[in-house]
Formats: sequence, structure tokens, C-alpha cells
Amino acid sequence: MNATINLEKKHFPVLLDELISIISPLYGGTFIDCTFGQGGYSKKILSNKNNIVIALDRDSKTLTTARKLTKEFKDRFIFVNEKFSNIDKLKFSNRNLKAIIFDLGYSINQINDLEKGLSFNSKGKLNMRLGKNLISAHDVVNKMPYEELSKVFRYFGEEQKSKIIAKNIINIRSKKIILTEDLVNIIENIKKKHSKINKSTKVFQSLRILVNNEISQLMLGLINSFKLLPIGGILAVVTFHSIEDRIVKFFFKNYSEDKKNSRYFPEIKKNKKIFKIINKKPITPSKNEIILNPPSRSAKLRYAKKIDNFNDFNDFFKKFEYLLKIEKFGDNI
Ligand SMILES: C[S@@+](CC[C@H](N)C(=O)[O-])C[C@H]1O[C@@H](n2cnc3c(N)ncnc32)[C@H](O)[C@@H]1O
Repeated sequence: MNATINLEKKHFPVLLDELISIISPLYGGTFIDCTFGQGGYSKKILSNKNNIVIALDRDSKTLTTARKLTKEFKDRFIFVNEKFSNIDKLKFSNRNLKAIIFDLGYSINQINDLEKGLSFNSKGKLNMRLGKNLISAHDVVNKMPYEELSKVFRYFGEEQKSKIIAKNIINIRSKKIILTEDLVNIIENIKKKHSKINKSTKVFQSLRILVNNEISQLMLGLINSFKLLPIGGILAVVTFHSIEDRIVKFFFKNYSEDKKNSRYFPEIKKNKKIFKIINKKPITPSKNEIILNPPSRSAKLRYAKKIDNFNDFNDFFKKFEYLLKIEKFGDNI
């Protein structure tokens, strides 16, 4: 979930001060904002005249804000409507790249955009596409076989009632097309117990992850950003749920530690150290930020400095192979 909600629906980029204090010692160079959104991070970085920002977002609706920034900051701001997994395909001649930043998830504008169907209050055809997608939540809920659907809910939503929810979906869709309100009803009829979060949160999260290929997007985004960064550059990522945080944590930790070779398995390949982690624990929002902007409570900021080049990320892919396999279910519908 994004950090841009508060009661007045004013835009609040999450952990902004913390992120800026990490990257500002590097000011006087180029910064890539992989998740432009409402431009909160980009604007703050551009407020220093020595900085250039290249921003990406997969949602074409962010173009309206991006155009305003292009007008204001001229050639200090470049926007590309593209998925961040393709960051390595950016053609830019500026070599003075200092940091690449990610603020994962979605923005208040996207939740309020009922057409996107990210909110439980949406009505009509299911969607959840953030932009540049091949499938929608409508296809998943109305076509995906039972086994696969229940795994999506279980592994991408950590939903305990995954099987019964999938079973009821299969039942009901044999009689009618399932719309957003039907899905919410199915979940609410199964999950009767009081819950702190909305009963549909986990299922909606799982569908959003699948429809937007969030697992492979994040993994490729991290790897390709790493390759683009010069040594000394910073990679910083804000996550909002445990699955994406696990991926980011593993990526930084696995490639920054000296793994002791066990005397039982001396043949295990040692990883090259390619990152220096400055803060072992993730940075989280202050109490004040959470009061001002409650959805920021689940945000975690992790960052690392690149200290060497590297090209073999096989064990990263191996580690999350089980999630990548589930993401592939989307290719068959
Ligand atoms: C939480 S918002 C970013 C908010 C931004 N930091 C700000 O201050 O306004 C996340 C944004 O990332 C975009 N996004 C999500 N996945 C993406 C991907 N794979 N490639 C590019 N953009 C993506 C979403 O469309 C959304 O606009």
C-alpha cells in the first residue's frame, strides 16, 4: 500500500525525509525514480538545482503530473512511461548516476481511480492493472483453475481461507460472471470473524501481485538497477508487504555477507560481496508520520551501496522460484 493517503487526501510521499537523508550526500548528479507516482520523491530531489531526475512509471495516467515537471524543470527531468524491469533499456548518456530508488505499490490516485478496481469499493468488472499488463483480475477470477487460484491467494496474499474462497469462486462463476462486488461478497460470506484489516485485503493483494507480475518486476528491477549503477551508487527500496520485503532483504543480505564455507559442504560457492549495507534493520516511519498518514505504517525502507560488479544472480532466482512459478499461472489464462 502506498503512503499517499491521509484524511485530507493530500499527497504524502512515505519516508521522504529518511530517503532524502540517505541520498542527499550524493547530490549533484543523476537519480532514477523507478516509481514516479505523484512525483513526491522526484520533486524533492529536483529542488536541488544540481540534480537531474529520470523517472519511470508503468501507469500512463502519471503522465499528467510528469508533464508539469518537464515544463518546470526542463531538461533536468525526464519521464518514461515504462515498467522498471526494463530500466536497463533506458538510453541515457549521463554517466553521473548516483542512486536508484523504488517506492513500491500504488498511489492514492490509483485507489481512487475506480476503473482500476484496486479498492474494495469499486463496482463492476474486476481489473487491478496498473499499466502495461497482459491480463486483468477479471481474467484470473473468471478463468483460472481451482488449484492455481487457491495457490495465488495462499502464496501472494497469505490468505488462510484460500481453498474455500477459490472453491466458492468456481461454484459461483459457473452461474454468472464474477464482478468486484461479487468477489467481496464471496470473501465476506466466508470470513465471518472480526478482523482488523478489511476481509478482502489479502485476496485483493494477491490478485494485484499476479496481474502486475510484481514478483518478477521487483526481482528484475533490482538486478537491472544494480547493473546500471556505478560502484558507490545507492539502491533504495520502500516496500509495503512482507513478500516484497522478503525479496529485497534477501537481495541485499545474500550479496553483502561473507558466507562461511561449511566443512560438510565445502563445495558450496561463496557469493561475491557486491553491496555494503549501512543500516542492518529497515527504516520505518516515525509515530508522527503514521498519525499523519496511517497507511505508511507498513512501509520499510532498505538500502545498500554497490561496492562491486557482478552478473550471476542464479541463487536469487532459485530462492524465489516458488513465487515465480505461481506468477507464471497468469500466462495460461
Ligand atoms: C507508491 S506509488 C509511488 C509514489 C511516489 N513515490 C510519490 O512520491 O508520489 C508507486 C508507483 O509505482 C508505479 N509502479 C508499480 N509497479 C511498477 C513497475 N513495475 N514499473 C513502473 N512503475 C511501477 C505505480 O504505477 C505507482 O504510480
